[in-house]
Amino acid sequence: MAEKIIFDTDPGIDDALALLLLAAAPELDLMAITVTHGNTSQDKCLSNALKLVELLGIEQVPVARGAQEPLVKELSVAEETHGDGGLGYAVLPEAKLKPVNESAHDLIIRLVNENPNQITLLCVGPMTNIALALLKKPEIAKKVKRIVAMGGSIHYPGNSTPQSEYNVFCDPESYEIVVNAGIDFTLVPLDVTYQCLLTNQHIDQITHARPEIKSFIKESTRFYIEFHAEYQGIQGCAINDPLAAAILIDPTLVENRDYFISVDLSGGPSKAKTIADHYGALKKAPNARVSMAVDVDRFMKLFIERMNRLN
Ligand code: RIB
Ligand code: CA
Repeated sequence: MAEKIIFDTDPGIDDALALLLLAAAPELDLMAITVTHGNTSQDKCLSNALKLVELLGIEQVPVARGAQEPLVKELSVAEETHGDGGLGYAVLPEAKLKPVNESAHDLIIRLVNENPNQITLLCVGPMTNIALALLKKPEIAKKVKRIVAMGGSIHYPGNSTPQSEYNVFCDPESYEIVVNAGIDFTLVPLDVTYQCLLTNQHIDQITHARPEIKSFIKESTRFYIEFHAEYQGIQGCAINDPLAAAILIDPTLVENRDYFISVDLSGGPSKAKTIADHYGALKKAPNARVSMAVDVDRFMKLFIERMNRLN
């Protein structure tokens, strides 16, 4: 039976590629898309999500507007990474589709209550919507099957401050709430996602996707590759969110370690750092399964093969 998924996302170029992957994954039953602030504003992320749903022809999937801003800190956006519109150089037609008139966190609460212990939350942006759902109805923590989240960094440098990864940096308080909610939690940090660099050579292998999909991939990643070269001296672009989605399709792509993870909320130079207690010094039971190794070749092959199914 296909695994039920709610996709919480801040599209965003790599978010968009993750949605393409979900659309090419019969193993997964995409029940809803909930949109969060993050790579750009809520309004732009929501507009991008609706455009992508129409590009993919999956209008049956409800899209819900989510949090406009983080729980505590001020709003951050990453338009140098994803472009003013959030999808790089890609231009998609204005969506006719409208979001459902239920907030993201209310939709999460309702679907989890209607499908107890069956829904996986695939979270590839700041955790604000999930935290709001847990703050409103703490009891849903016992009804969420699991969370798989792209976020954090363990040994790898931060991509937002020297120590913090962007999704956690955007709303560290929400991450701390969610990772300590007692839900089965898989964290997919920069340590593995930055090994997964999509290059033009990979993109050239996407030959069977329909033209508008191929054009979207080319134009969105063209911006994203330029960002990685200019700001991080990296050839290619880290497809962070697609790796988190791919793990739902094939969990053997990664090797995990159980850690007690805490988020630094102290406000100093390591604010929003995800701290793994490697040797159990804090004497606390692990609260996360952290992906610390990835089979890059197998993941890239899977990604390309699935993109070619979008024909
Ligand atoms: O740090 C990478 C993460 O932040 C990705 O999810 C990217 O889309 C941004 O949201
Ligand atoms: Ca994202």
